[in-house]
Amino acid sequence: MAKPVSKVLVINDEKMVLRSLTNGLNSAAKHLDNPFGITFTGVTSAQEALDVLGTDGDIQTVLIDDNLYALNGAKHSEQKSALELVHCIHNLRPELGIYIMIDEAKQDEVVDVLFSEAIEGYFYREERDYRGWFRIIHAQIRDKSRTPFYDALHDYVLMAKDAWHTPGHSSGDSLRGSPWVNDFHEFMGEHVFRADLSVSVDQLDSLLHPTGVIEEAQALAAKAFGARRTFFATNGTSTANKVIFQTLLTPGDKLLLDRNCHKSVHHGVVLSGAHPIYLNSSVNKKYGIFGTVPKKAIFEAIENHPDAKVLILTSCTYDGLRYDLPPIIKAAHEKGIKVIIDEAWYGCARFHPAFRPTALEAGADYATQSTHKVLSAFSQASMIHVNDPEFDEHSFRENFNMHTSTSPQYSMLASLDVGRKQATMEGFKLLSRTLELVSELKANINASGVFRVLDLDDLLPEEIKHDGVQLDPTKVTIDITKSGYTSEEFQKELFERYNIQVEKSTFNTVTLLLTIGTTRSKVSRLYDALMRIAREARPPRRLHRAPDIAGFTGLKFLPRDAYYVAGEMMPMIDDEDHPNPAMFGRICADQIVPYPPGIPALVPGQVITEEILSFLLGLMRSHKRTEMHGVVFDGYVPTLRVLTQAEMSQLKPLVE
Ligand SMILES: Cc1ncc(COP(=O)(O)O)c(C=O)c1O
Repeated sequence: MAKPVSKVLVINDEKMVLRSLTNGLNSAAKHLDNPFGITFTGVTSAQEALDVLGTDGDIQTVLIDDNLYALNGAKHSEQKSALELVHCIHNLRPELGIYIMIDEAKQDEVVDVLFSEAIEGYFYREERDYRGWFRIIHAQIRDKSRTPFYDALHDYVLMAKDAWHTPGHSSGDSLRGSPWVNDFHEFMGEHVFRADLSVSVDQLDSLLHPTGVIEEAQALAAKAFGARRTFFATNGTSTANKVIFQTLLTPGDKLLLDRNCHKSVHHGVVLSGAHPIYLNSSVNKKYGIFGTVPKKAIFEAIENHPDAKVLILTSCTYDGLRYDLPPIIKAAHEKGIKVIIDEAWYGCARFHPAFRPTALEAGADYATQSTHKVLSAFSQASMIHVNDPEFDEHSFRENFNMHTSTSPQYSMLASLDVGRKQATMEGFKLLSRTLELVSELKANINASGVFRVLDLDDLLPEEIKHDGVQLDPTKVTIDITKSGYTSEEFQKELFERYNIQVEKSTFNTVTLLLTIGTTRSKVSRLYDALMRIAREARPPRRLHRAPDIAGFTGLKFLPRDAYYVAGEMMPMIDDEDHPNPAMFGRICADQIVPYPPGIPALVPGQVITEEILSFLLGLMRSHKRTEMHGVVFDGYVPTLRVLTQAEMSQLKPLVE
């Protein structure tokens, strides 16, 4: 098994001193217990230090001589003050531990100046206590690489206790040896069952009331992700969003949201009873891709609804578009509006400068991340990060517990702990490699002459071209227009002939997701497949665009009020298969979501129009397979649940 390598970068502008420091520290590292493979390497200028930190993913810690502080200015143009350097390093790689070497005489002055920065500690230069310094640095690396929950789980499994508690498979004993189901045990592996434990085991803490190893693991995650508090969620970001909504919003509270938000956000609207003000995202019709909500529309909504409690946006989007968040969050905060950013697709961003700022760095109060989507956690394992200065922990806890199973899956929690450790210890290195693979893949695909990777400019609809939107490079969208395949045929070809499954498609694009788990051989296999398909040179086909999503019509009642009526089922079509005119003007009781892309065409409380019905029926009849969540079939007739006249007369209509 590969052993860890941990480099410590020492920065001192006097070569002789630097040499004696690194020699002394390396000698200590050699003679003391050194399980993390710590070695010391030196540079003499701040600029060199930043260059090394920008490329060497094995650096874990930085040791800065505060003399740089004194040498700032004309004498050393490449030099920065220690304070400036700490600031730059923290911006570049916030996961690194930073220590400062100081003069005893200047102690107070330096400590005061550096106090607010992310400093792990100080060493007196003159003491030259190399073994002591090594021990401290070793302890810091040890601390941030700890996995308290996973360790406790691992140790408990090794203790081989007899289980007289749930789950019923009792460490897999119910399955093992069974002539009928032993294959499941064999396939999944012994430890899946042995590690499937319950809250009866005290040592493993309680997700609903953490005071032990779960609390410690969450605190380590908060530090790693730059949050005041972090909470592990075992039902995905779908649940994380609902928990925050129910914490921040009470019935009737105004909420600004992108209509294109994930369906869990719309469910959160129903559960919380909020009054949603929908913002329309931009659409790139050429590729059938949704962009961000135009900045102007967000600013206008903030101005027009200063009484809103919350603004929620998705950044980055499924296609990798991310907002220029700082000015948006600032504008919302100026009106006292809390900001939630759904970072379901962006959990890795903290660990490489190419992806930052993260939502929290941009000032968001809450960020929800599907750790499982882009880091090494099991499906459903998500995190809720909180930086809200007015965080109401009691209310949050009640809502968190309302949505959380009393039997959470412990492997999922362990994977969050391990996923955080990996991101902290080697995220920069792995993401740097992923970015290299992205560049190679893009160059190769574009050289095919048939396929083309869409860049930011291609993806941005006109109305957001000047909004400072950026593209997450790990989401690679390929234009397949010239290939002679429809996107369904193309996906089928990749899957059946080349064993490749892609993330998603539109009528003329496919999107690939590259993560820290993408390997060079996967890239080669994909490239090989694309080249073969390109060489076969099918004549280009006319690709049919999916119908444009119908415009929003307006809310008559709060989504929650409309949802909780009994309603009546009404056919969407009349006897001649046309949109049913009796339905025009009626109020929908459910959320109707064509999936993909998962944007509700109707929400509870919304007025149904001919245009919306035509859009939904058009989708149902098109050749592209679309699930239609919320539509109920009565035989072959699609029906929707709508409010009855009697129900409408009893509800309070909304004043928008
Ligand atoms: C923007 C967005 N938010 C939230 C979610 C839900 O995340 P999870 O699958 O972790 O429940 C998704 C899932 O695709 C998503 O795309």
